[in-house]
Amino acid sequence: MKYDFETVHKRINTGSGKWDKMAQFGVRESDDIIPFSVADMEFVTAPEIVDALKRELDTSIMGYENPTSEYLETVCNWMKTRHNWDAKPDWILNTSGVVNAFFEAVRVYTKPGDGIMLTTPVYFPMYMAIRDYGRELVDCKMIDTGKSYEIDFDDFERKASDPNTKMLILCSPHNPCGRIWTREELMKIGEICLKHNVLVVSDEIHFDLEMPGHKHTVFASLSDEIANNCLVLTAPSKTFNIAGLQTSNIFIPNPELREKFYASLKLMNPNPKCNILGYRACEAAYKYCANWLDECLSVIDTNRKIICDFIERELSAIKVYDLEGTYLMWLNCNDLGLSYQELERINQTEAKLFFDEGYVFGPQGEGFERWNIACPTRYINEALARMKEAYTK
Ligand SMILES: Cc1ncc(COP(=O)(O)O)c(C=O)c1O
Repeated sequence: MKYDFETVHKRINTGSGKWDKMAQFGVRESDDIIPFSVADMEFVTAPEIVDALKRELDTSIMGYENPTSEYLETVCNWMKTRHNWDAKPDWILNTSGVVNAFFEAVRVYTKPGDGIMLTTPVYFPMYMAIRDYGRELVDCKMIDTGKSYEIDFDDFERKASDPNTKMLILCSPHNPCGRIWTREELMKIGEICLKHNVLVVSDEIHFDLEMPGHKHTVFASLSDEIANNCLVLTAPSKTFNIAGLQTSNIFIPNPELREKFYASLKLMNPNPKCNILGYRACEAAYKYCANWLDECLSVIDTNRKIICDFIERELSAIKVYDLEGTYLMWLNCNDLGLSYQELERINQTEAKLFFDEGYVFGPQGEGFERWNIACPTRYINEALARMKEAYTK
Protein backbone atom coordinates (compact mmCIF):
# COMPACT_ATOMS: atom_id res chain seq x y z
CA MET A 1 0.00 0.00 0.00
CA LYS A 2 1.25 3.46 -0.84
CA TYR A 3 -1.13 5.18 1.58
CA ASP A 4 -1.66 5.01 5.34
CA PHE A 5 -4.69 2.96 6.38
CA GLU A 6 -3.32 2.11 9.82
CA THR A 7 -3.09 5.36 11.79
CA VAL A 8 -6.13 6.23 13.89
CA HIS A 9 -6.66 9.65 15.44
CA LYS A 10 -8.71 9.15 18.55
CA ARG A 11 -11.46 11.73 18.57
CA ILE A 12 -12.78 11.71 22.14
CA ASN A 13 -13.64 15.29 23.16
CA THR A 14 -13.10 16.68 19.67
CA GLY A 15 -16.80 17.18 18.99
CA SER A 16 -17.21 13.79 17.26
CA GLY A 17 -20.57 12.44 18.47
CA LYS A 18 -19.49 8.96 17.40
CA TRP A 19 -16.46 8.98 19.73
CA ASP A 20 -18.09 10.89 22.56
CA LYS A 21 -21.02 8.48 22.75
CA MET A 22 -18.55 5.63 23.16
CA ALA A 23 -16.73 7.57 25.88
CA GLN A 24 -20.00 7.81 27.81
CA PHE A 25 -19.79 4.03 28.25
CA GLY A 26 -16.44 4.35 29.98
CA VAL A 27 -14.10 3.71 27.03
CA ARG A 28 -10.88 5.70 27.36
CA GLU A 29 -8.20 6.45 24.78
CA SER A 30 -5.85 4.00 26.45
CA ASP A 31 -8.33 1.14 25.81
CA ASP A 32 -7.57 1.35 22.08
CA ILE A 33 -11.18 0.65 21.17
CA ILE A 34 -12.85 2.51 18.31
CA PRO A 35 -16.54 3.08 17.49
CA PHE A 36 -18.15 1.47 14.42
CA SER A 37 -21.21 3.69 14.16
CA VAL A 38 -21.60 7.06 12.35
CA ALA A 39 -20.57 6.86 8.69
CA ASP A 40 -17.22 8.54 8.61
CA MET A 41 -13.98 6.61 8.26
CA GLU A 42 -11.27 5.92 10.82
CA PHE A 43 -8.66 6.52 8.13
CA VAL A 44 -6.54 9.64 7.89
CA THR A 45 -7.34 11.92 4.97
CA ALA A 46 -5.38 11.41 1.74
CA PRO A 47 -2.17 13.53 1.79
CA GLU A 48 -3.09 15.15 -1.54
CA ILE A 49 -6.18 16.65 0.10
CA VAL A 50 -4.30 17.76 3.20
CA ASP A 51 -1.63 19.40 1.01
CA ALA A 52 -4.26 21.27 -1.02
CA LEU A 53 -5.81 22.59 2.19
CA LYS A 54 -2.40 23.62 3.54
CA ARG A 55 -1.66 25.47 0.33
CA GLU A 56 -4.96 27.29 0.67
CA LEU A 57 -4.20 28.25 4.27
CA ASP A 58 -0.77 29.50 3.19
CA THR A 59 -2.43 32.14 1.01
CA SER A 60 -3.74 33.67 4.26
CA ILE A 61 -6.88 34.84 2.51
CA MET A 62 -10.18 33.25 3.37
CA GLY A 63 -12.43 35.51 1.34
CA TYR A 64 -15.78 34.84 -0.31
CA GLU A 65 -15.58 32.27 -3.07
CA ASN A 66 -17.96 30.68 -5.50
CA PRO A 67 -17.24 27.37 -7.17
CA THR A 68 -14.89 28.10 -10.07
CA SER A 69 -15.45 26.71 -13.55
CA GLU A 70 -12.40 24.50 -12.93
CA TYR A 71 -14.10 23.13 -9.81
CA LEU A 72 -17.31 22.35 -11.70
CA GLU A 73 -15.45 20.75 -14.59
CA THR A 74 -13.40 18.66 -12.19
CA VAL A 75 -16.59 17.35 -10.58
CA CYS A 76 -18.05 16.49 -14.01
CA ASN A 77 -14.81 14.85 -15.04
CA TRP A 78 -14.99 12.57 -11.99
CA MET A 79 -18.53 11.62 -13.00
CA LYS A 80 -17.29 10.77 -16.47
CA THR A 81 -14.15 8.84 -15.59
CA ARG A 82 -15.48 7.02 -12.54
CA HIS A 83 -19.16 6.61 -13.49
CA ASN A 84 -19.29 7.09 -17.25
CA TRP A 85 -21.87 9.84 -16.91
CA ASP A 86 -21.75 12.98 -19.06
CA ALA A 87 -22.90 15.64 -16.62
CA LYS A 88 -22.82 19.32 -17.40
CA PRO A 89 -21.22 21.89 -15.06
CA ASP A 90 -24.31 24.10 -15.08
CA TRP A 91 -26.44 21.28 -13.64
CA ILE A 92 -24.56 21.55 -10.34
CA LEU A 93 -25.75 23.44 -7.29
CA ASN A 94 -23.85 23.28 -4.02
CA THR A 95 -25.33 22.64 -0.60
CA SER A 96 -23.58 22.16 2.68
CA GLY A 97 -24.51 18.53 2.98
CA VAL A 98 -26.69 15.97 1.26
CA VAL A 99 -29.13 15.79 4.15
CA ASN A 100 -29.75 19.52 3.71
CA ALA A 101 -30.35 18.88 0.03
CA PHE A 102 -33.02 16.23 0.45
CA PHE A 103 -34.74 18.23 3.19
CA GLU A 104 -34.74 21.16 0.77
CA ALA A 105 -36.10 19.00 -2.05
CA VAL A 106 -39.00 17.87 0.13
CA ARG A 107 -39.79 21.50 0.97
CA VAL A 108 -39.48 22.75 -2.60
CA TYR A 109 -41.26 20.10 -4.63
CA THR A 110 -43.99 18.83 -2.28
CA LYS A 111 -46.59 20.29 0.04
CA PRO A 112 -47.89 19.19 3.44
CA GLY A 113 -49.86 15.97 3.20
CA ASP A 114 -48.15 14.80 -0.02
CA GLY A 115 -46.91 11.22 -0.06
CA ILE A 116 -43.17 10.50 -0.26
CA MET A 117 -41.91 7.00 -0.91
CA LEU A 118 -38.98 5.38 0.86
CA THR A 119 -37.70 1.86 0.33
CA THR A 120 -37.26 0.72 3.91
CA PRO A 121 -35.36 0.06 6.15
CA VAL A 122 -33.41 3.17 5.21
CA TYR A 123 -31.13 6.01 6.40
CA PHE A 124 -33.15 7.58 9.24
CA PRO A 125 -32.93 11.33 8.32
CA MET A 126 -35.04 10.50 5.27
CA TYR A 127 -37.94 9.66 7.59
CA MET A 128 -37.25 12.90 9.46
CA ALA A 129 -37.45 15.03 6.30
CA ILE A 130 -40.91 13.58 5.60
CA ARG A 131 -42.16 13.84 9.16
CA ASP A 132 -40.69 17.26 9.99
CA TYR A 133 -42.28 18.90 6.95
CA GLY A 134 -45.65 17.27 7.57
CA ARG A 135 -45.53 15.02 4.49
CA GLU A 136 -46.83 11.47 4.52
CA LEU A 137 -44.50 8.48 4.54
CA VAL A 138 -45.30 6.01 1.76
CA ASP A 139 -43.50 3.01 3.16
CA CYS A 140 -42.26 0.60 0.49
CA LYS A 141 -40.94 -2.20 2.69
CA MET A 142 -38.28 -4.15 0.88
CA ILE A 143 -38.23 -7.92 0.58
CA ASP A 144 -35.64 -9.38 2.94
CA THR A 145 -34.12 -12.46 1.29
CA GLY A 146 -31.94 -13.24 4.31
CA LYS A 147 -28.77 -12.18 2.49
CA SER A 148 -29.94 -9.11 0.63
CA TYR A 149 -32.91 -6.85 -0.03
CA GLU A 150 -35.08 -6.43 -3.09
CA ILE A 151 -37.73 -3.91 -4.01
CA ASP A 152 -41.23 -5.35 -4.13
CA PHE A 153 -42.08 -3.80 -7.48
CA ASP A 154 -45.80 -4.67 -7.41
CA ASP A 155 -46.18 -2.86 -4.11
CA PHE A 156 -43.88 -0.06 -5.33
CA GLU A 157 -45.95 0.58 -8.44
CA ARG A 158 -49.23 0.40 -6.54
CA LYS A 159 -47.95 3.06 -4.16
CA ALA A 160 -46.42 5.21 -6.91
CA SER A 161 -49.75 5.21 -8.77
CA ASP A 162 -51.60 6.80 -5.85
CA PRO A 163 -52.23 10.38 -7.00
CA ASN A 164 -51.15 11.66 -3.57
CA THR A 165 -47.64 10.20 -4.04
CA LYS A 166 -45.34 12.94 -5.34
CA MET A 167 -41.77 11.94 -4.59
CA LEU A 168 -39.40 9.04 -4.04
CA ILE A 169 -36.26 9.56 -1.97
CA LEU A 170 -34.04 6.81 -3.28
CA CYS A 171 -30.97 5.70 -1.36
CA SER A 172 -28.51 4.50 -4.01
CA PRO A 173 -26.29 2.73 -3.00
CA HIS A 174 -28.52 1.75 -0.14
CA ASN A 175 -27.72 2.58 3.46
CA PRO A 176 -28.02 0.43 5.61
CA CYS A 177 -28.67 -2.61 3.40
CA GLY A 178 -25.50 -2.33 1.31
CA ARG A 179 -27.21 -2.77 -2.05
CA ILE A 180 -25.91 -1.30 -5.27
CA TRP A 181 -29.06 -1.27 -7.36
CA THR A 182 -28.59 -2.88 -10.76
CA ARG A 183 -29.20 -0.92 -13.92
CA GLU A 184 -32.36 -3.00 -14.51
CA GLU A 185 -33.74 -2.24 -11.06
CA LEU A 186 -33.03 1.48 -11.48
CA MET A 187 -34.61 1.46 -14.92
CA LYS A 188 -37.77 -0.07 -13.45
CA ILE A 189 -37.83 2.54 -10.68
CA GLY A 190 -37.25 5.32 -13.22
CA GLU A 191 -39.99 4.15 -15.58
CA ILE A 192 -42.59 3.62 -12.85
CA CYS A 193 -41.86 7.07 -11.41
CA LEU A 194 -42.07 8.71 -14.84
CA LYS A 195 -45.35 6.95 -15.59
CA HIS A 196 -46.93 8.15 -12.35
CA ASN A 197 -45.34 11.63 -12.11
CA VAL A 198 -43.28 10.84 -9.06
CA LEU A 199 -40.14 12.96 -8.77
CA VAL A 200 -37.01 11.01 -7.83
CA VAL A 201 -34.51 12.45 -5.37
CA SER A 202 -31.60 10.06 -5.70
CA ASP A 203 -29.24 10.26 -2.74
CA GLU A 204 -26.01 8.87 -4.20
CA ILE A 205 -23.62 10.00 -1.49
CA HIS A 206 -22.11 6.47 -1.33
CA PHE A 207 -21.72 6.29 -5.13
CA ASP A 208 -17.96 5.74 -5.22
CA LEU A 209 -17.92 3.02 -2.58
CA GLU A 210 -18.24 -0.08 -4.74
CA MET A 211 -17.22 -3.56 -3.72
CA PRO A 212 -15.57 -5.83 -6.32
CA GLY A 213 -18.06 -7.09 -8.89
CA HIS A 214 -20.56 -4.27 -8.35
CA LYS A 215 -20.92 -1.09 -10.38
CA HIS A 216 -22.96 1.91 -9.37
CA THR A 217 -25.22 3.49 -12.01
CA VAL A 218 -25.98 7.20 -11.69
CA PHE A 219 -29.77 7.48 -11.81
CA ALA A 220 -29.78 10.39 -14.26
CA SER A 221 -27.58 8.44 -16.68
CA LEU A 222 -30.40 5.99 -17.48
CA SER A 223 -32.14 8.14 -20.10
CA ASP A 224 -32.82 11.80 -20.90
CA GLU A 225 -36.42 11.45 -19.72
CA ILE A 226 -35.35 9.98 -16.42
CA ALA A 227 -32.67 12.66 -16.04
CA ASN A 228 -35.40 15.28 -16.43
CA ASN A 229 -37.36 13.74 -13.58
CA CYS A 230 -34.66 13.55 -10.94
CA LEU A 231 -32.08 15.17 -8.70
CA VAL A 232 -28.78 13.39 -8.08
CA LEU A 233 -27.28 14.15 -4.69
CA THR A 234 -23.54 13.55 -4.43
CA ALA A 235 -20.57 14.59 -2.35
CA PRO A 236 -16.90 13.70 -1.97
CA SER A 237 -17.53 13.39 1.78
CA LYS A 238 -18.08 9.64 2.27
CA THR A 239 -15.62 8.65 -0.45
CA PHE A 240 -12.69 10.66 0.91
CA ASN A 241 -13.63 11.03 4.56
CA ILE A 242 -14.11 14.77 4.42
CA ALA A 243 -17.68 14.98 5.73
CA GLY A 244 -16.73 17.78 8.15
CA LEU A 245 -16.13 20.09 5.18
CA GLN A 246 -19.84 19.92 4.29
CA THR A 247 -19.59 20.34 0.53
CA SER A 248 -22.07 18.58 -1.73
CA ASN A 249 -22.67 18.60 -5.46
CA ILE A 250 -26.33 18.43 -6.38
CA PHE A 251 -27.01 17.65 -10.04
CA ILE A 252 -30.34 18.84 -11.43
CA PRO A 253 -30.40 18.37 -15.23
CA ASN A 254 -33.95 19.73 -15.64
CA PRO A 255 -33.67 23.57 -15.79
CA GLU A 256 -37.11 24.19 -14.29
CA LEU A 257 -36.47 21.91 -11.35
CA ARG A 258 -33.03 23.46 -10.92
CA GLU A 259 -34.36 27.00 -10.95
CA LYS A 260 -36.97 26.12 -8.35
CA PHE A 261 -34.39 24.53 -6.10
CA TYR A 262 -32.00 27.47 -6.46
CA ALA A 263 -34.74 30.01 -5.79
CA SER A 264 -35.59 28.21 -2.59
CA LEU A 265 -31.94 27.93 -1.50
CA LYS A 266 -31.71 31.69 -1.97
CA LEU A 267 -34.61 32.29 0.37
CA MET A 268 -32.77 30.53 3.17
CA ASN A 269 -29.39 31.94 2.24
CA PRO A 270 -29.40 34.83 -0.27
CA ASN A 271 -25.99 33.86 -1.64
CA PRO A 272 -25.87 30.07 -1.43
CA LYS A 273 -22.42 28.56 -1.51
CA CYS A 274 -20.15 26.25 0.45
CA ASN A 275 -16.90 27.12 2.16
CA ILE A 276 -13.61 27.64 0.40
CA LEU A 277 -11.84 24.70 2.05
CA GLY A 278 -14.61 22.33 0.99
CA TYR A 279 -14.21 23.36 -2.63
CA ARG A 280 -10.43 22.94 -2.48
CA ALA A 281 -10.67 19.53 -0.84
CA CYS A 282 -13.24 18.27 -3.35
CA GLU A 283 -11.16 19.45 -6.28
CA ALA A 284 -7.98 17.82 -4.94
CA ALA A 285 -9.85 14.60 -4.18
CA TYR A 286 -11.32 14.28 -7.66
CA LYS A 287 -8.09 15.30 -9.39
CA TYR A 288 -5.51 13.37 -7.42
CA CYS A 289 -7.04 10.76 -5.13
CA ALA A 290 -8.46 7.97 -7.33
CA ASN A 291 -5.56 5.72 -6.28
CA TRP A 292 -6.16 6.49 -2.61
CA LEU A 293 -9.78 5.46 -3.11
CA ASP A 294 -8.82 2.20 -4.82
CA GLU A 295 -6.54 1.28 -1.92
CA CYS A 296 -9.18 2.31 0.59
CA LEU A 297 -11.76 0.08 -1.12
CA SER A 298 -9.38 -2.85 -0.98
CA VAL A 299 -8.96 -2.42 2.81
CA ILE A 300 -12.74 -2.26 3.22
CA ASP A 301 -13.12 -5.39 1.11
CA THR A 302 -10.52 -7.19 3.24
CA ASN A 303 -12.46 -6.21 6.38
CA ARG A 304 -15.67 -7.41 4.77
CA LYS A 305 -14.19 -10.82 3.99
CA ILE A 306 -12.72 -11.22 7.49
CA ILE A 307 -16.11 -10.52 9.05
CA CYS A 308 -17.96 -12.89 6.72
CA ASP A 309 -15.47 -15.73 7.30
CA PHE A 310 -15.35 -15.29 11.06
CA ILE A 311 -19.09 -15.08 11.53
CA GLU A 312 -19.73 -18.08 9.32
CA ARG A 313 -17.18 -20.10 11.31
CA GLU A 314 -17.73 -18.86 14.86
CA LEU A 315 -21.05 -17.06 15.14
CA SER A 316 -23.29 -18.69 12.58
CA ALA A 317 -26.49 -17.47 14.29
CA ILE A 318 -25.72 -14.05 12.83
CA LYS A 319 -26.71 -13.44 9.21
CA VAL A 320 -24.40 -11.12 7.31
CA TYR A 321 -25.92 -9.34 4.31
CA ASP A 322 -23.99 -9.04 1.05
CA LEU A 323 -22.06 -5.81 0.95
CA GLU A 324 -22.20 -4.53 -2.62
CA GLY A 325 -21.58 -0.87 -1.85
CA THR A 326 -20.95 1.55 1.06
CA TYR A 327 -18.72 0.56 4.00
CA LEU A 328 -21.70 -0.26 6.20
CA MET A 329 -22.33 -3.94 6.87
CA TRP A 330 -25.79 -5.08 7.86
CA LEU A 331 -26.03 -7.94 10.33
CA ASN A 332 -29.17 -9.74 11.46
CA CYS A 333 -28.60 -10.83 15.06
CA ASN A 334 -32.17 -11.91 15.84
CA ASP A 335 -31.25 -15.61 15.99
CA LEU A 336 -28.99 -14.93 18.97
CA GLY A 337 -32.25 -15.07 20.92
CA LEU A 338 -31.82 -11.66 22.59
CA SER A 339 -34.20 -8.76 22.52
CA TYR A 340 -32.80 -5.82 20.57
CA GLN A 341 -32.55 -3.84 23.80
CA GLU A 342 -30.56 -6.62 25.43
CA LEU A 343 -28.33 -6.90 22.37
CA GLU A 344 -27.59 -3.18 22.53
CA ARG A 345 -26.82 -3.41 26.25
CA ILE A 346 -24.44 -6.35 25.83
CA ASN A 347 -22.67 -4.66 22.93
CA GLN A 348 -22.11 -1.39 24.72
CA THR A 349 -21.48 -2.45 28.28
CA GLU A 350 -19.94 -5.94 27.97
CA ALA A 351 -18.39 -6.28 24.52
CA LYS A 352 -17.56 -2.57 24.10
CA LEU A 353 -18.92 -2.70 20.59
CA PHE A 354 -20.45 0.54 19.35
CA PHE A 355 -22.48 -0.13 16.22
CA ASP A 356 -25.50 1.74 14.91
CA GLU A 357 -28.50 -0.13 16.22
CA GLY A 358 -30.65 -1.43 13.37
CA TYR A 359 -33.93 -0.13 14.78
CA VAL A 360 -32.96 3.48 14.00
CA PHE A 361 -33.43 2.61 10.32
CA GLY A 362 -37.03 1.53 10.84
CA PRO A 363 -38.85 -1.28 12.67
CA GLN A 364 -37.59 -3.92 10.21
CA GLY A 365 -34.12 -3.16 11.59
CA GLU A 366 -34.86 -4.39 15.11
CA GLY A 367 -32.24 -6.91 16.14
CA PHE A 368 -29.89 -5.80 13.37
CA GLU A 369 -26.57 -4.00 13.68
CA ARG A 370 -25.00 -1.66 11.15
CA TRP A 371 -21.25 -2.04 11.28
CA ASN A 372 -19.08 0.74 9.83
CA ILE A 373 -16.01 -1.20 8.63
CA ALA A 374 -13.94 1.71 7.25
CA CYS A 375 -11.15 1.31 9.77
CA PRO A 376 -7.78 -0.42 10.13
CA THR A 377 -8.18 -4.19 9.90
CA ARG A 378 -6.71 -4.84 13.35
CA TYR A 379 -9.77 -3.23 14.95
CA ILE A 380 -12.06 -5.57 13.03
CA ASN A 381 -10.17 -8.63 14.30
CA GLU A 382 -10.27 -7.36 17.88
CA ALA A 383 -13.97 -6.55 17.68
CA LEU A 384 -14.78 -10.02 16.36
CA ALA A 385 -12.96 -11.61 19.28
CA ARG A 386 -14.92 -9.45 21.77
CA MET A 387 -18.12 -10.27 19.93
CA LYS A 388 -17.52 -14.00 20.17
CA GLU A 389 -16.75 -13.84 23.86
CA ALA A 390 -19.82 -11.75 24.68
CA TYR A 391 -22.31 -13.57 22.46
CA THR A 392 -21.30 -17.09 23.41
CA LYS A 393 -21.43 -16.41 27.15
C1 LIG B 1 -27.53 7.98 2.49
C2 LIG B 1 -26.89 9.12 3.20
N1 LIG B 1 -27.20 10.38 2.84
C3 LIG B 1 -26.63 11.45 3.45
C4 LIG B 1 -25.72 11.27 4.47
C5 LIG B 1 -25.11 12.47 5.15
O1 LIG B 1 -24.89 13.49 4.26
P1 LIG B 1 -24.28 14.90 4.68
O2 LIG B 1 -23.30 14.68 5.76
O3 LIG B 1 -23.66 15.37 3.41
O4 LIG B 1 -25.43 15.75 5.07
C6 LIG B 1 -25.38 9.98 4.88
C7 LIG B 1 -24.44 9.78 6.00
O5 LIG B 1 -24.33 8.73 6.56
C8 LIG B 1 -25.97 8.88 4.21
O6 LIG B 1 -25.66 7.63 4.54
